Amino acid sequence: MADFQSIKTKVEDGIALIELNRPNVLNAISRGMVTEIRSAFETFDKEDAVKVIVLTGNEKAFAAGADIDEMAEDDAVTLELLNQFKDWDQLHTIKKPVIGAVSGYCFGGGFELALCCDILFASEKAQFGFPEIKLGVMPGAGGTVKLTKLMGPKIALEWLWLGEPMTAKEAQKHGIINRTVAPELVVEEAMKFARILACRAPLSLRLIKESVQYAAGHSVHDSMQFERKNFYLLFSSEDQKEGMKAFTEKRHPQFKGK
Ligand code: CAA
Repeated sequence: MADFQSIKTKVEDGIALIELNRPNVLNAISRGMVTEIRSAFETFDKEDAVKVIVLTGNEKAFAAGADIDEMAEDDAVTLELLNQFKDWDQLHTIKKPVIGAVSGYCFGGGFELALCCDILFASEKAQFGFPEIKLGVMPGAGGTVKLTKLMGPKIALEWLWLGEPMTAKEAQKHGIINRTVAPELVVEEAMKFARILACRAPLSLRLIKESVQYAAGHSVHDSMQFERKNFYLLFSSEDQKEGMKAFTEKRHPQFKGK
C-alpha cells in the first residue's frame, strides 16, 4: 500500500479499515485526500484478502467538508481544468461493500463522502449537514442528488437551503444512515457488521450491491431484468454449488469468491 499523508489504513481479518487523518482541520477533504481515498478503495477492491472496506474519521469529525482554504481562490475554469470531481466519481465504482462509521461533524464534502458508503453507522452525537449555502456555493459531489433521492425534493430543499446540521436521529429517520449507536461503539459496531459480511459469499455481495444500485436509478421492469441476469450469473459460481451443498449437508459453507 502506498505511503499516505491524509489517511491511515490497515487490514485485519478480511476487513480494510481506512481512517481519515487530518485532525488539525477536522479532516477537511483536500484534493490529495480524495486521491488517496480513491487509491485505497481501488487497491482494496482488487485485493483478494479484503472482503469489506470500513471508512471512518475520528471522534470529533468524520470530515467537516471539502478543504475551504484549498478552493477559496479557485475559479470555474481552474475547477473545470482540474476535473475537480474525477476522483470523487471513482468512489462510486467500488464493487465490495463499503461501510461508513461516522462520529462528530459530517458536513459538506464529508457528508458526500459518507453518502458514498453502502451502509452507515453513526454516533448519537454525529451531526450531518450541507453548510455550503453559507459559503455562497452548493454541494458539488452529489449532495443535492443523493439527498433528493433519499428524502424527496421538498425535505431535501429545506436542509440544503437552511444549511443547518441534522442529528443522527433525524438522519436515520430519513433513511440516510442505517444505525445510530453510542459514540464509543461506532467503529466497533461497523467492524462487527463488516465481519458478518466478510463471511458471506463475495460474489453474492457484489451482485446484490450492483442490483440495488441499478434499481435505485431504473424502472421496476428494467431492474427486475437486471436482477435476474445477476441471479443466473451466480449459478456459474463455485460458491453457489458450495452454498447449496453445505445446506443439504447441514454445515457452514466455505465460500471462495469464485
Ligand atoms: N476546510 C478547511 N479547514 C477547516 C474546515 C474546512 N471545511 N473545517 C474546519 N476547518 C479547520 C478550521 O479552519 C480550524 O483551523 P484553525 O485551527 O487553523 O483555525 C480547525 O479546522 C478547527 O475548526 P474550528 O475552530 O472552526 O472548530 P469548531 O469546533 O469551532 O467548529 C465546524 C467546527 C462547525 C465544523 C466549523 O469548523 C465549520 O463550520 N467548518 C466548515 C464547514 C463547512 O462549511 N463545510 C463545507 C465545505 S464546502 C464543501 O464541502 C463543498 C463540496 O461539496 C465539495
